[in-house]
Amino acid sequence: MQQIIITLDGYSSCGKSTLARQLANELNYVFIDSGAMYRAITLYFLRQHVNWNNVREVNKALGEVTLDFQYNDHTGQSDMFLNDENVEALIRDMLVSEHVSEVSAIKEVREFGVAQQQKMGEKKGIVMDGRDIGTTVFPNAELKIFVTADPTIRVERRFKELFRKNPNITIEEVKNNLEMRDYIDSNREFSPLRKAADAIDLDNSNMTREEQLAIALRWTEEKMAEKKA
Ligand code: DC
Repeated sequence: MQQIIITLDGYSSCGKSTLARQLANELNYVFIDSGAMYRAITLYFLRQHVNWNNVREVNKALGEVTLDFQYNDHTGQSDMFLNDENVEALIRDMLVSEHVSEVSAIKEVREFGVAQQQKMGEKKGIVMDGRDIGTTVFPNAELKIFVTADPTIRVERRFKELFRKNPNITIEEVKNNLEMRDYIDSNREFSPLRKAADAIDLDNSNMTREEQLAIALRWTEEKMAEKKA
């Protein structure tokens, strides 16, 4: 059967990755969490004390970065590897979250990320989530979904996720971080977060995971049928 490209874009913590992963599992497609790539680059910059306002330092550091997704038998999900090290847990830390929007706004970082993401989609059969996937990475994707959720619900979801790992975290910190990232991601110069003109809105504020998956699967079938016709 002919395979397609599915993109999911939207604000932070609106459940894009969860839906993208479910969808990829159902369709037997590859799932790529593009945010994990920017998070891994940010971790590398922080560890190496890269001054990301200096283009030469950024280019040098990017030349030292190898990103790779590897399947984890225990979780049944793909983990992010940075230079052969599993950094899946580390990149979800608040420290990385605090800087990732700034780092991912840098032109050279975007070019680096986008080129690798486009390569991953060459054979199609991919579900990728992020901020600019339907607009910049795969402007010709067959199905583009723009995921939204009520801001209060997004903060609650993210807080629950982070609280499990760090009971000292406060809801205020999470709220401030989401607001800051949404602002930077939407207002940056290079490929800002935008809804692609041909993307379909999916507001999952009051939906269960099963409900949102069912809708996305229906849209996928419709797009596949259109492609065949
Ligand atoms: O999806 P996430 O919250 O893990 O993404 C982390 C950050 O990475 C997000 O605040 C903005 C950036 N990002 C981006 O600029 N472009 C993407 N395609 C994905 C993420």
